[in-house]
Amino acid sequence: MADKKTDAPMPVHIGVIMDGNGRWAKKRGLPRKFGHREGAKTFRKIVRHAKELGVKYITFYAFSTENWRRPDDEVQAIMKLFDKYLDDFDDFLKEHVRMKFIGDKSMLSESLQTKMARCEELSKDYDIMTLIIAVNYGGRDEITNAARLIAEDVKAGKIDPADVDEELLQSKLYTDGIPDVDLIIRPSGEQRLSNFLIWQSAYAEYYFTDILWPDFSKKDFERAIEEYKDRHRRFGGV
Ligand code: FPP
Repeated sequence: MADKKTDAPMPVHIGVIMDGNGRWAKKRGLPRKFGHREGAKTFRKIVRHAKELGVKYITFYAFSTENWRRPDDEVQAIMKLFDKYLDDFDDFLKEHVRMKFIGDKSMLSESLQTKMARCEELSKDYDIMTLIIAVNYGGRDEITNAARLIAEDVKAGKIDPADVDEELLQSKLYTDGIPDVDLIIRPSGEQRLSNFLIWQSAYAEYYFTDILWPDFSKKDFERAIEEYKDRHRRFGGV
């Protein structure tokens, strides 16, 4: 990457909202699922590039808790694509990429759950890069779930309400052990978080672009990182 500011720190954890697949297909007079198919190719390309650039953690928003409201055939098409890509993830295993899936997996098919568990188990000791995929994920759902787990521990007498602090809550999130997200990239012109990593993004920088996700290139990814490096990050201080 042509890098004028090699001294500025890279974002450790990047989040990506893969948006604009539907509009990409519509512009071409194609069914929406074709946009997701192209979006999945972009996903694979950006994962590889992130690894080449030395990104340590990258999270992709593949399916939100709200996405079930889409027409059934579109939901099925996304699930099918996901299933197919999980088979292809053996390539990532060969490249020693650690994989983790966040979200409420109980709503997903047995086949998907088995394949996700296999990828997580086989890659758990790799540390070159951690690829996190959010499926049936919602930030509010994640925090609610964490609150429920803590309430259960209090009820069982394992902890006292006075022991509940940020660190404890964080340890009950799906992202336990993963550092907070530093940079969130959202293509397609939308400028919102849509329930993505809402706890973990408290100090994140945002990068928005009008490019639709299937058209998002390696250069666009590098541009987002460059802009991140340019920003002065103060963490609430001066
Ligand atoms: C948002 O675009 C995209 C999704 C809801 C699905 C993303 C899924 C994939 C890229 C494929 C499967 C994932 C993996 C990891 C292989 P949109 O449909 O909301 O686009 P629009 O805003 O233009 O309608």
